[in-house]
Amino acid sequence: MGAKRTRSISGETYDTPLSHRAFCHIADIADCKLAPRFRGRTQAARGGRREITRRYAGVTAVILTDRLKLRDWRDSDSDALVALNADPEVSRDLGGPLDRAASDAKLDRYMATFVELGFCRWLVEDLDQQFLGYAGVMPSRSGHPLGRHFDIGWRLVRAAWGRGYATEAAKASLRDVFERMHLTKVLAYTSANNFRSQAVIKRLNMQRAASLDYSAPVGKGTWRGLVWIARPSDGLVNQTCADSLLLEKTLPVPPRSTPI
Ligand SMILES: CC(C)(COP(=O)(O)OP(=O)(O)OC[C@H]1O[C@@H](n2cnc3c(N)ncnc32)[C@H](O)[C@@H]1OP(=O)(O)O)[C@@H](O)C(=O)NCCC(=O)NCCS
Repeated sequence: MGAKRTRSISGETYDTPLSHRAFCHIADIADCKLAPRFRGRTQAARGGRREITRRYAGVTAVILTDRLKLRDWRDSDSDALVALNADPEVSRDLGGPLDRAASDAKLDRYMATFVELGFCRWLVEDLDQQFLGYAGVMPSRSGHPLGRHFDIGWRLVRAAWGRGYATEAAKASLRDVFERMHLTKVLAYTSANNFRSQAVIKRLNMQRAASLDYSAPVGKGTWRGLVWIARPSDGLVNQTCADSLLLEKTLPVPPRSTPI
């Protein structure tokens, strides 16, 4: 184990080995309340076709990397996400800018996914809590051309490009789903001309899966996706990680046999 340094989260300090890239901490928040908008959605889902389990309700999650903090979302993050999604340059490859309603629908989906599965596209901020964007793994939407799967995605505010933040956040979120949630495969897709996104995928050492390339309607056009696959064996998860052990003690972890 390497040298130690102290990291501080929410006033609590922890020693973490310098050799570990990500430091993860999950805290139980006994009195955490679901936001009204989210509560409504969960109740609606309960009466609908699919029961949403709320295994992670009342739990908050933080993954710390060298320069970043990945955390679950709060209702108060709405404005930051709206601004990110409204930027034409940031949203160029994703069907163009989103209005507040569409952005809030995404926020609802991220929050609902976290409460159900314990991970999502995490909010990414710097260690001074400056909002940078999001990165992380989500389950596919129903009716996706590739069927049921998990995919990793990222979107950062323009000022945060070119600093390695997307790759750093994506690595930490992939390690988390492989180590803690025992996922065995995560897809990434991007368009042929999104060279920045492809560069992130390559830095993550994901494997190209051309046979899975697909097209889907986005906005008024058609989006053509090139597909890559990440697996635990790709080198991101090659050591037992003390920070993940800390995380497993405090957050419900599904047994390995649970298909998620
Ligand atoms: C895709 C996106 C997240 C990539 O962001 P990014 O900052 O280019 O990606 P990375 O975090 O990997 O940063 C790599 C760059 O940081 C530089 N860098 C600077 N300091 C660094 C450091 N300490 N460590 C690593 N890289 C560093 C690298 O040299 C590289 O620069 P380059 O692009 O000039 O070669 C960003 O362009 C984005 O938000 N795009 C809009 C949304 C989008 O298209 N999402 C994907 C849809 S499929």
